[in-house]
Amino acid sequence: MLLIKQLKGCAFLAFEEKQSWLIDELCNYFGADKKELVFYGNLIYWQNDLSKNIKPFWCSTVYIEPFTVTFSSISEAASALKQMQRNWAPYQYVFFRRAALVQKKLPYINLKDRIFPYTLPKTPIGAWTLIDENTMIASAKTSSYLPCGRIKFVEDHENPPSRAYLKIQEALVHFQSFFGDFPKENQRCFDAGASPGGWTYVLLQLGCFVLAVDRSPLVDNLMSNPKVRFLKHDAFTLKCEDIEPVDWIFSDVICYPERLLEWIKMWLARPNVPNMICTIKIQGKIDWEIIKTFESIPNSYVIHLNYNKHELTWLHKGTTNIEQNNL
Ligand SMILES: C[S@@+](CC[C@H](N)C(=O)[O-])C[C@H]1O[C@@H](n2cnc3c(N)ncnc32)[C@H](O)[C@@H]1O
Repeated sequence: MLLIKQLKGCAFLAFEEKQSWLIDELCNYFGADKKELVFYGNLIYWQNDLSKNIKPFWCSTVYIEPFTVTFSSISEAASALKQMQRNWAPYQYVFFRRAALVQKKLPYINLKDRIFPYTLPKTPIGAWTLIDENTMIASAKTSSYLPCGRIKFVEDHENPPSRAYLKIQEALVHFQSFFGDFPKENQRCFDAGASPGGWTYVLLQLGCFVLAVDRSPLVDNLMSNPKVRFLKHDAFTLKCEDIEPVDWIFSDVICYPERLLEWIKMWLARPNVPNMICTIKIQGKIDWEIIKTFESIPNSYVIHLNYNKHELTWLHKGTTNIEQNNL
């Protein structure tokens, strides 16, 4: 017999291999008591009302209004979800075969890897998880329109010089979704900490000019690309006036967040601020205060990308509008 039961609180799906960071964030930043957390693989259910209206960084999507469905057949499970809304994405950690049969009975959703450039969907999507053979935890309302809150791209294993290219692709997709802006043909980009060249590679594919700054060179075919100017330098000691005007600033430099923040402030103090995308490298224990400072910068977001490691990404919509004749 079908039984649907609303649950208190929310459930949080950790990014892959980031469950321990999510637990740390829930307990040490949002005030959860670890004993209150229930684990379903990477899905962490926290029944306390403190879990409402939060979106931890290490969580890819939140099951905002979770409920359990107890069902006696695969068809019954699928029709219970279908009656609520069209789109449902599966997160499973057990009973994969049974879950696949339920998903097959639900309306089709695209779970394939995406091709960059890609526009984020704008249709709500639910999420569901089998917790035993006849019970699932689900939520029609989730915090992301992506299935389970994750982007995966079709990978190019031959051309980009490093896997870091996936990170900038994902960041650009989010930048476009937040701010409606994307690097355009012949725009100028400053890529700080560019070597071996994954980010520069993506920006060239989009038709941009790139000023690549690093202590080490890029791979040969990027060094000889006419749209690339390489500068062997400490990116953080370059003054704004040392370089030509740029539309976009990128940084993937490995450094303490404090150092990055100081550098960013130099750019924010300019009359024309370029768009910026910077990786915040987390070294050891996360300093929540400095992350809040990044978040509090107007026109900014801090997010964790599927392709980030122990990192967050700061996205900022600038004010620059370089005249074409500057190019
Ligand atoms: C994670 S790697 C960058 C990968 C690159 N985004 C890519 O897509 O291939 C970090 C780079 O930062 C560079 N780096 C570290 N400190 C730097 C600094 N102060 N100025 C410029 N580059 C720096 C390192 O040499 C290294 O190449």
